[in-house]
Amino acid sequence: MASNNLFVVLMFMYIMVNGFIFASFGVNGLSMNYYLMSCPLVEGVVTDTMNRALESDPTLAAAILRMHFHDCFVEGCDGSVLIDSTKDNTAEKDSPANLSLRGYEIIDQIKEELEKQCPGVVSCADILAIAARDAVFLAGGPVYDIPKGRKDGRRSKIEDTIRLPPPTLNSSELIRLFGQHGFSAQEMVALSGAHTLGVARCSSFKSRLKNFDSTHDMDPTLEAQFAKTLARTCTAGDTAEQPFDTTKDTFDNVYYNAVLRKAGVLFSDQTLSLSPRTRGIVNAYAMNEAMFFFDFQRAMVKMGLLDVKEGTNGEVRQSCRRIN
Ligand code: HEM
Ligand SMILES: *[C@@H]1O[C@H](CO)[C@@H](O)[C@H](O)[C@H]1NC(C)=O
Ligand SMILES: *[C@@H]1O[C@H](CO)[C@@H](O)[C@H](O)[C@H]1NC(C)=O
Repeated sequence: MASNNLFVVLMFMYIMVNGFIFASFGVNGLSMNYYLMSCPLVEGVVTDTMNRALESDPTLAAAILRMHFHDCFVEGCDGSVLIDSTKDNTAEKDSPANLSLRGYEIIDQIKEELEKQCPGVVSCADILAIAARDAVFLAGGPVYDIPKGRKDGRRSKIEDTIRLPPPTLNSSELIRLFGQHGFSAQEMVALSGAHTLGVARCSSFKSRLKNFDSTHDMDPTLEAQFAKTLARTCTAGDTAEQPFDTTKDTFDNVYYNAVLRKAGVLFSDQTLSLSPRTRGIVNAYAMNEAMFFFDFQRAMVKMGLLDVKEGTNGEVRQSCRRIN
């Protein structure tokens, strides 16, 4: 209890300091009040639309959060994940790594509304970043402010998605990959906590199960009862969905408790409690949700700043699906 209170206090101090730094100086040309004069209602429009969308389909919170991650880890947070393929260009969207990305219509809806209110002002990259932030708190997670002012990129190529982590990576490989983007091991574990929302398809974890022709054995790191659950899910085929934890539409720390129990759905989830380099962090987040929330929102702000485009390096798209 005492440590929970301490984290609430720390979180409050962090938000104040964070807000002060970004509001006053800006980073990468971004700032907390970037649209203050040009489109003051931007956050309200995003939050309203997200709220309505989640009321009819709560699973979209996971979809939008994941979309923002895929945007930022490929060519920076520049809305490149939103681009449709054309006859001359196969976009990121059509990579196998996009597996089950969805929710593009909500981004279109928000963009349409904002184009009515302040045409040509708000970038698709910012819309996605704000929508992902809203998805987290609307699902019960931490409330935080993010800097805005990202410009949209002009490149979206299928081959760039090679930078996304596959679910077969072990803890050291995850630490290395996230390290290339400037994240610590602790930040990587905190960001993995996004898997408190949503589901994985059988195709993402079936290599952990003993298969019928015995070309591979059961992943020994998998708890026996949970292995049966996964196998049962997979009887419905490759696209059958397995929730990451028992509260898939609620942003909480239940995911870390599942991982500790050896009931992590992906190998990349399970590995976090197996490696001595990350086990302690998983333990801490499983015991202290406030600490997870605090670290998560800080890591999300950082992820949202990955290679952002500013000025003439980017544009504000008219449609999020097409380069101007
Ligand atoms: C640590 C490395 C990561 C790996 C290997 C990974 C991999 C995956 C895979 C394979 C899926 C399931 C796709 C499917 O089968 O449909 C998934 C789902 C998801 N991922 Fe990750 N991910 C990672 C990190 C992240 C991060 C950093 C975020 C966001 C901050 C994130 C957010 C999500 C969400 C919310 C879902 C559920 C999507 C839905 O239900 O529609 N993941 N991830
Ligand atoms: C993801 O890529 C596949 C091809 O690998 C494509 O058929 C599918 O339409 C894409 N999904 C989305 C949501 O764009
Ligand atoms: C993680 O994977 C790499 C590459 O496959 C391997 O060299 C390393 O030994 C693995 N680490 C652990 C802790 O299993």
